[in-house]
Amino acid sequence: GRDVISIRDFSKEDIEFVLLTAERLERELKEKGHLEYAKGKILATLFFEPSTRTRLSFESAMHRLGGSVIGFAEASTSSVKKGESLRDTIKTVEQYSDVIVIRHPKEGAARLAAEVAEIPVINAGDGSNQHPTQTLLDLYTIKKEFGRIDGLKIGLLGDLKYGRTVHSLAEALAFYDIELYLISPEMLRMPKHIVEELKERGVKVYETSDLEAVIGELDVLYVTRIQRERFPDEQEYLKVKGSYQVNCKVLEKAKEELRVMHPLPRVDEIHPEVDKTKHAIYFRQVFNGVPVRMALLGLVLGVI
Ligand code: CP
Repeated sequence: GRDVISIRDFSKEDIEFVLLTAERLERELKEKGHLEYAKGKILATLFFEPSTRTRLSFESAMHRLGGSVIGFAEASTSSVKKGESLRDTIKTVEQYSDVIVIRHPKEGAARLAAEVAEIPVINAGDGSNQHPTQTLLDLYTIKKEFGRIDGLKIGLLGDLKYGRTVHSLAEALAFYDIELYLISPEMLRMPKHIVEELKERGVKVYETSDLEAVIGELDVLYVTRIQRERFPDEQEYLKVKGSYQVNCKVLEKAKEELRVMHPLPRVDEIHPEVDKTKHAIYFRQVFNGVPVRMALLGLVLGVI
């Protein structure tokens, strides 16, 4: 279909095609400064949860493609506040636009929107479930930095239970010949069904709570925030708050080539002193959101 709902809907070939398209668009944009592929097209962004990067990089991507954008960043300013259903919201917004990007706290909300809508729908994060466009920009970043994904040792650190970025990313990485280190507090381990699936798909998976024991092995350390807003109980959050902090001392044990990634926002899990080190690539990762989302918008609109 023309929707982007879960990374599970992608084959390895689909992923590679998006990455190649993003690379091409990044090059074209650099050469020409502005593209016109989406001229006359309208993107609607419906954000029922806070966002800085995903919403603004989709907006930027649509403008860079010559299209325009409508939408809301705050559901409380929409008629959802008056009790309108998601279904009716989507049936309305699709009358005004050519593609919808939606972020919603409920798992499955983007899938429902895609079933209702006749225009393409892109999932910008649904609860703790999936964040497929983040995963594509993460893969794009790894490929750009290393020239490959195969052969790397990749650590996912932090909230592997509630973090949707790591759920999508782990599933996508299973297409590649990598070793995966899942580093988290005991309470926040990667869901069992995902770990089982990774193993079945031939990924070497190591689970640990000890970052310092494994950091020296890694080529990529993908850090995540503890997802406070997903905890049913604040007391449970307080038990794991501040479990990890990547700082210059911790990085003394790392390989010189280690790249530290983070989908952002961060709270305190990466000390700002790391930003100036050669390990830090999370703001380059932010930049990569634009060409990847340009590729996705162009492909689902059928204009590139
Ligand atoms: N990485 C990411 O999804 O950031 P935002 O929540 O700011 O969109």
